[in-house]
Amino acid sequence: MSNDALSNLSSETRSFVPSAEFVAGANVSGEWYERAGVDREGFWAEQAGRLSWERGWDRVLDWSGAPVARWFVGGSLNVAYNCVDRHVEAGFADQVAIHWVGEPGDRRDLTYGQLRVEVCRAANALVSLGVGSGDRVAIQLPMIPEAIVAMLACARIGALHSVVFGGFSPAALRSRVDDAAAKVVITSDGQYRRGKAAPMKANVDEALAGAESVETVLVVRRTGDEVSWVQGRDVWWHEVVEAQSDSHTAEAFDAEHPLFILYTSGTTGKPKGILHTSGGYLTQAAYTHHAVFDHRAGEDVYWCTADIGWVTGHTYIVYGPLANRATQVVYEGTPNTPHEGRHWEIIAEHKVSIYYTAPTLIRTFMKWGADIPARYDLSSLRVLGSVGEPINPEAWMWYREHIGGERCPVVDTWWQTETGAIMISPLPGVTAAKPGSAQRALPGISAKVVDDQGVEVPPGGGGYLVLDEPWPAMLRGIWGDEQRFRDTYWSRFAEQGFYFAGDGAKYDDDGDIWLLGRVDDVMNISGHRISTTEVESALVSHPDVAEAAVVGATDPTTGQGIVAFVILRGTATDHGTDTATTLRNHVATEIGPIAKPRQILVVPELPKTRSGKIMRRLLRDIAENREPGDVTTLADTTVMDHITTGLNKNT
Ligand code: WTA
Repeated sequence: MSNDALSNLSSETRSFVPSAEFVAGANVSGEWYERAGVDREGFWAEQAGRLSWERGWDRVLDWSGAPVARWFVGGSLNVAYNCVDRHVEAGFADQVAIHWVGEPGDRRDLTYGQLRVEVCRAANALVSLGVGSGDRVAIQLPMIPEAIVAMLACARIGALHSVVFGGFSPAALRSRVDDAAAKVVITSDGQYRRGKAAPMKANVDEALAGAESVETVLVVRRTGDEVSWVQGRDVWWHEVVEAQSDSHTAEAFDAEHPLFILYTSGTTGKPKGILHTSGGYLTQAAYTHHAVFDHRAGEDVYWCTADIGWVTGHTYIVYGPLANRATQVVYEGTPNTPHEGRHWEIIAEHKVSIYYTAPTLIRTFMKWGADIPARYDLSSLRVLGSVGEPINPEAWMWYREHIGGERCPVVDTWWQTETGAIMISPLPGVTAAKPGSAQRALPGISAKVVDDQGVEVPPGGGGYLVLDEPWPAMLRGIWGDEQRFRDTYWSRFAEQGFYFAGDGAKYDDDGDIWLLGRVDDVMNISGHRISTTEVESALVSHPDVAEAAVVGATDPTTGQGIVAFVILRGTATDHGTDTATTLRNHVATEIGPIAKPRQILVVPELPKTRSGKIMRRLLRDIAENREPGDVTTLADTTVMDHITTGLNKNT
């Protein structure tokens, strides 16, 4: 984050208390902090009571195998039963679970009763394809009801899903399929994006050529476009799933039975398969959805705009809301198709009362203009949420005023793929909310801002964000790489036993937490985590590139933008924009369009320390149009002059 942004934050003093009416009716009161503080495990046991357990636990937490926690030891439950069947059994078969809105305007409502039938059939289909407990199923699907059904069907039979975002390239899908040795891949013929049908299965076919673990590809028909077919491997969802019986007995699994793997970028080129388990994860998903959004089953209409390819889609579209018997909107498409008021139109039509989105989208809405939401009736809204990156105070204020009509509490929720569920956030009926601050760890959660030595900083101080107590939805490891799990999260403050989140943070004078962005080599582009190393390896895999260094530069809309500095090989010539376009497309092919650099700068040299480490700080100065800072630790202090003169010549 730039110095300007930091000083803006420190001068931010506005705060907004919830209305007396909101406070009076809220799910959670301030007393919860004290209760959880006095007896953390007792508090979590109470939250686990939101779920239906086949067998109760003997012990709430076993931390003796730290850093691998076991929560609700000895308990067993079925996650899909908790998200679907129990609501049907309680008499809510006819309540809508999902108001699905397709991008081209088609729609489908699924009640809990219908969802149960779909999930049972899909579970039976997976079993018929030889999938059993502990097997891995990769899912690359657009935002269609089958995506949610497929995830729940896996959960129901104890198979792990590994959802891969639809925008990832064949190469990225393949590495994830191989890493988890997925037996089945579920995809669709195509998907609608920005008003057009785009192929999906073709990418999957390319990804899976020669993939040894994959026995079956299950294909959902969405766009109706022609697809090629691998006999003996490919089957249609509508043939295999719809032929199944709609009854399936959900077997209970151990609370620590793995639920899913979700890959996320780390500081090396290889994505990490974050592993989550069942009982603790679902407990925290349900509790946070209830507390942070003040959700009321049967009354609220909830909408989280994330994609199921990210953790927000897992926890706040699938598991949390469905465990809490929410009625929710699921929208397939882009926010400006066919027009820039699409979200507001959907909110008005479905009377959405809780809306959860990302700062990058809020800033995009700001750019499109406040007159657009002003044309729609947004009076049904009562809680607004934000997630994915620090929200700047201007965007927060705009969100509160133009979307929330100055009456809806705004909750800025901090968490990660690894934490599984929300960790730090205001509570809408308790907190005097400050624009741009996630404020305080939720009841039951503990977080601190510490210095280099792991010592908590005083009010007003800044440092690293750590989590100093285990929490139910915490990751249980990195798939197939225990050492990396320990090194990445637990070695930085090993002595204290803190989980190192990788984020910088500060306390204000009241002790509230303000997140300041990543402190490692992970970039945050529109709320998507991409590592600098991942993009660098994609660039150097191009025959024209000798060396590459990538930085995240502040971007007014996407939070950060990717800026790449490349040195071309002696044999390659710089064709200006052509070279840049070629390399940008190459990155899209290697990783996916979300990782395309905003800018590619061809340079003669890169700034390195005497030990050969690239000084990204100096490159960031260039990318953000500042005079490069202190160069004294460079091996060759004239390098920066060579780089900047070269760039000035080009422009
Ligand atoms: C960032 C997304 C500031 C942070 C749920 C974190 C945030 C990373 C916030 C995790 C927030 C997420 N304020 N920063 N409210 N929410 N982040 O794994 O840097 O995709 O480490 O999980 O996003 O991204 P991930």
